[in-house]
Amino acid sequence: MKSILKNTISSNKKYTSNGKVASYIPELKKANQDDLGICIIDKNNNMYCAGDYNKKFTIQSISKPIVLALALMDNEWEYVFSKVGMEPSGDPFNSIMKLETNDTKKPCNPMINAGAIATTALIKGKDLQEKEERMISFFRKLAKNDSLQINEDVYKSEKLTGDRNRAMGYLLKNDGFIEGDVEEVLDLYFKQCSIEIDTVDLARIGLLFANYGIDMETGERIISEDISRMVKTFMVTCGMYDASGEFALKVGIPAKSGVGGGIMASVPKRMGIGVFGPALDKKGNSIAGLKILEDLSKKLELNIF
Ligand code: DON
Repeated sequence: MKSILKNTISSNKKYTSNGKVASYIPELKKANQDDLGICIIDKNNNMYCAGDYNKKFTIQSISKPIVLALALMDNEWEYVFSKVGMEPSGDPFNSIMKLETNDTKKPCNPMINAGAIATTALIKGKDLQEKEERMISFFRKLAKNDSLQINEDVYKSEKLTGDRNRAMGYLLKNDGFIEGDVEEVLDLYFKQCSIEIDTVDLARIGLLFANYGIDMETGERIISEDISRMVKTFMVTCGMYDASGEFALKVGIPAKSGVGGGIMASVPKRMGIGVFGPALDKKGNSIAGLKILEDLSKKLELNIF
C-alpha cells in the first residue's frame, strides 16, 4: 500500500501545474501549487501516508458534510430539510442563481455554499460563542484531534471578502431559510471553513462516515447510522458540485472537496481517505487530487457501484 501511494503521488504530480490555487479568498493564494499528499486509514486502523500528507490547510467546503451531520443531530430531519433541499444543483459551488429561479427559492442542497450557510444556521447554542464551541468540538471529536484550530488569517480574509456568501445569507433570511442574525450565521460559516486540518484528519473523519458513525478503535457510536448514510449520499450526488456526475462515473466513491485543496473520501465499510493538492481545476476541485482518487479507485477496487 505504501508504495502504491508513493507511486500515485509521483505519477500525478505533473497535473498540479495544470491547476491554480484559489485566489478569491486572498489568504489562500499563499498555498504552494505543487503540494500533493495523501493519507488512508483502513477499518483495521492501519494508516498509510505519502507526499505532503502532514501539511496543514483549511478545510473549506469539506466542513459542509460535517456541519450537516451536526445539524441533523441537533434538529428534526424534517426541519433541516425544510430549510435546505436534497437535489444536486448542477451549478458551481458559489452560484446564487437558483435561490431566485427555483420555485421554492430553497437552496438546492447542503453541499453548495447557499445550502451550507442555511445548514450552519441550524447549529444549536445559546449564543454565537456556544455555537462556535460546539461546532469546533464536533470537528475535533470526529478527527480525534483535540488540537484542531481555526486559522485566524484565513477566517479574517474570508470574512472581509465574502460578499457573495453575504448576499446569499441575506436572500436566505429574506425567504425564511435562515432564522436569526445573518451576520452571526456567516461568521460561524467562515469559521467552520477556516478550520486547519491535514490529510490524516480528513482520513479519520472519512473513516468514521465509512464505518456508519462508529469509531473503529473504541466502538463508540458518534453519529447515527442514518445520518452517516445521508451524509455519504450527499457526498456522492453533490460533493464535487457540477463535477459530481463525472466523479461518480470515474471514481465512484463518496467524496467532498474544498478550495483549500483537500478532498475527503469515504469508502463504505473499508477506509477513509484524505487528499491534499491546492492546485484546483476550474470547478474548484483539486486537479491532481481527482486523478489520484481515480487511480486508487481502479487499483484498490474502491468503486461502490
Ligand atoms: O465559502 C466559500 O466560498 C469557501 N469558504 C468554501 C468553498 C469551497 O471550498 C468550495 N469547494 N470546492
